[in-house]
This record gives sequence, structure tokens and C-alpha cells, in this order.
Amino acid sequence: MTPVRVLAVASEVYPIVKTGGLADVAGALPIALKAHGVEMRTLMPGYPDVMRLVSGAAELRTWPDYFGGPGRLLAGSHEGLDLFVLDVPHLYARPGNPYVTSEGVDWPDNGVRFAALSRVAADIGHGLVPTFVPDVVHAHDWQAGLAPAYLHYDNRPRPATVMTIHNMAYQGKFAPELIGAIGLPWGAFNVNELEYFGGISFLKAGLQFADRITTVSPTYAREIQSDEGGMGFGGLLRARASVLSGILNGIDISVWNPQDDPHIAYRYGAEDLTFRAANKAVLQQQFNLDSSDEAPLLGVISRLSWQKGLDLLLEAIPTILREGMQLALLGSGDRDLQDRYQAAARANPGRIGVVIGYDEILAHLLQAGSDALIVPSRFEPCGLTQLCALRYGAVPIVSRVGGLEDTIVDVGEADASGRDATGFKFAPVTAEALAGSLRKANTAFHDKPTWRRLQRNGLATDVSWRGRAGEYAALYRDLMTSRA
Ligand code: ADP
Ligand code: GLC
Repeated sequence: MTPVRVLAVASEVYPIVKTGGLADVAGALPIALKAHGVEMRTLMPGYPDVMRLVSGAAELRTWPDYFGGPGRLLAGSHEGLDLFVLDVPHLYARPGNPYVTSEGVDWPDNGVRFAALSRVAADIGHGLVPTFVPDVVHAHDWQAGLAPAYLHYDNRPRPATVMTIHNMAYQGKFAPELIGAIGLPWGAFNVNELEYFGGISFLKAGLQFADRITTVSPTYAREIQSDEGGMGFGGLLRARASVLSGILNGIDISVWNPQDDPHIAYRYGAEDLTFRAANKAVLQQQFNLDSSDEAPLLGVISRLSWQKGLDLLLEAIPTILREGMQLALLGSGDRDLQDRYQAAARANPGRIGVVIGYDEILAHLLQAGSDALIVPSRFEPCGLTQLCALRYGAVPIVSRVGGLEDTIVDVGEADASGRDATGFKFAPVTAEALAGSLRKANTAFHDKPTWRRLQRNGLATDVSWRGRAGEYAALYRDLMTSRA
């Protein structure tokens, strides 16, 4: 196996900084790739949490003026991850969420902040760090989208480039004036290069110039080539269809392991699910729900945004109540949704429990104690919580979109590849269809052998990164061969 060196570029990496699934992927993939002969190092911004956690940081390079202030490039590591950290205090030394202020609005200089990250990625691509000259630069989402663009405009021999789309909805749009400030040529401001509806888009830059484009499920790879699913990039992606593919995400099965999970009340293995009931009892207490083993407990762990379709679940609450089910929701995001869920909990004590916030530990308990996990997304590039649910014996109830379509096998269908049923899928993505699926799940829940079978099939599903990392390794190798 030829060894391959890959520089990954990501704006969040679990367990250091996380706002969503991107961090999970960026944190797990490098470790899984080791078995495939890929040496991956990850470049990320030096936010305060990064500066605090990264150990053994060695200074590789300093700049007196990097995009308006002093900057340094460090190499360090954390929990098995090899990192390059771009420490530029005037851009990244800000507490809290990496993208928005404490009022929840985008930092006004996000364009410069993430251009700076991509600029150094391109320079590492050109050999800035002689001990690690990458064969491939792998950019994740819009925050890293300029890396392939800088490498293109630098017009020098360069490593191969891969752009991975985790979510088309975040496009990194900025005013055209930024072009000069971030050192890109003014000539790039046209629709075949960076221009996007009168401004520029970092995501477009990546999609335009990367040698390969991937996204996180085969179904999403198809959906984004349509005008609706492409959210403005359908045409571009149709034109680049020959270099676009979908590779499903996995989860880190050592972090998500019910046999050995420090965050759940009672640990259990796939062969004996009796302790799930004890976790359910603890969960009911924590969410102020009536203690009852007989009431099916539906769980949700999610960002509260339009994408996730949780307004539809609010509309389905009458069905949940009528069917004698309970709901435990952990989430944060849109103010309006937060308020409406809290109101629903107040109106239905003992039946609807809501925790607003971001709580990694509670997320594990929810997986271990819920009977079913609901993901009613309008679109979902891959989705990770349904994969965790399979691993914990919670039965997923999901909409039939993106990665949810690819990872869950519906009770009513024999999967073409011969996979056994693992959950419930509904379409179209409406409150009525969701309610229909909740009713079906309730019937199945009360038929114990059927429910056990669904749980067992889920627990037997491989949700790990093993095979999926192999697909990335094959992609990198293929790129190297085709460019040689
Ligand atoms: P997305 O990246 O679109 O938010 P994913 O399903 O890919 O969706 O990943 C979400 C990740 O964030 C999962 O690891 C999930 O457990 C976690 N998560 C989401 N919301 C919360 C929350 N409120 N508290 C704890 N973890 C959360
Ligand atoms: C995005 C998507 C989600 C995906 C995650 C990791 O945030 O919304 O579906 O699982 O990225 O790829």
C-alpha cells in the first residue's frame, strides 16, 4: 500500500470544538484512515479551546502580520489527532461558538477568518512544512472552500484537492470587495469562478476548483444535483457530476459504545438489552416524564433549525399524546422553536420533556434510554444521530431524505441489498406522514418480538468508519494515480 499524506482542513474537530456532525467526522476520520495507510493531519483555527487543549505545540512558523495581526502556525496533538493550528489571536481568540457572536450573529470578519485558514492550507500544500508535504488537501465545508481555489490561482505545482460538502445550506457568501483583501485575483469575479449572486461564495470556490467533490451520502450526492437540493449550485454540480460522489459517514464506535459508555446510567451489550429499561427510567426522571416502561419514549437530539423539520414534530404532538407515547427532546437553535417546545412541555407535564441546550452527556443517555429516535429532516446530508441510535438499540424514525434514506431500512421494505429492517421511514416530509409513522412505530413497539427484531437488526448494522474510511483512502489513491 503506497502511503498517502493528506492535509484535512476543518473549522471544528471533535473532541476539541464541536457545533455539529462536521466535528464528529473531522475527529474520527483521521484515526480510521490510519489502518488504510493514510497519514492525515488536520489544520484548524486556534480558538481558545484549541489553544488550551493541544499539547506539545511546536511553533513551525511566525508572521508579524497575518491578515492584519501577528500569527503563528503550530503543530501539536490531542487524543490521537495530529494537528496544525493556525494561531492568529485577532481572528480566533474569541470565546464561545466558532462562527457567531454571543448574540448569535455571524462574526463580521468571517470571510477573512476562514480565508486565512485556507491560505495557510494552500501554503502547507506548497511545502511550507518540509516534514509534511501533503499529496492531497482535503477541504471540509465552506470554511475551507478557498483552499482548492488558492491552490488553483497560485498556479504552481500543487497537491490534489478534495472538497467535501457536509451541508449545502451553508455557503460562505461575502461581498465582492473581499477578493482583494484576501489576496485573490479580481479576474476571479465572474460566474464561472467565484461570483455568486453578486457576491462571492467560498463553497462555490471549492466546488469549482477541487479535483474531486464528495458529499456524505450517495442519496445527497444525487439530491444536490437538482435545482432544489442544490440550493443554487445544482447547475454547477451537474456540470461536475463526473467528479462528484457520496461516501457515507460513520461514527466513532469507541465514543458511542453502550457496553463501555461512561455517560449512561447502566451499560449494556447487544445480546442483553434489559438494562435499556433502567436507562429509560433515569431519562424519564431527567426530563420530568411519568415513569412508565409501557409508554414508548421518543427521543430527539438535534440542532433546532428549519433543516431538521422539528416544526413538523410539534404538529405531530397530538398524535404522540393520543398514542400514549412520550417525547424527550434535547436541542438548541432557533429561538422560536425553543420557545414552542418549552411551551409544549409546560402544557403536557409528564408526557413531553424538553431540555434546551447542548449537552454531550445527556445525548448519550438519550440514545441509551429512548425507545425510538426521531429525525424528521427536510434535508439531511448524512445525519449521525440515527447511526448512534442503531448502535444503542433505539429504533430510528426518519424522513426519507439524504443519508437517512441510505442508512435506515424501513420495516415495510426488503432492502435491495438484502439488509434487514432497522426502522421507519416516511415521505413526503410532512406532519401527516410523520404522524403516520409514529402510529406504525407505536403498534410495532407493543408487539415485542417485532420491536426486538428491529433493535437487533440495528445493533448488527456496521455504523463504524472502517469501510467508509477505506472509500476515502481509495479516492485519495485514485486521485494520485490519475494525476501522476
Ligand atoms: P448536524 O451536523 O446537521 O447538526 P448530525 O446528525 O450530522 O447533524 O450531527 C449532529 C451531532 O451533534 C451529533 O453528534 C449529535 O449527537 C450532536 N448534537 C446535536 N445537538 C445536540 C445537543 N443539543 N446536545 C448534544 N449533542 C448534540
Ligand atoms: C452536516 C449535515 C449532517 C452530516 C454532518 C457531518 O452538518 O447536516 O447531515 O451528518 O454534516 O457530515
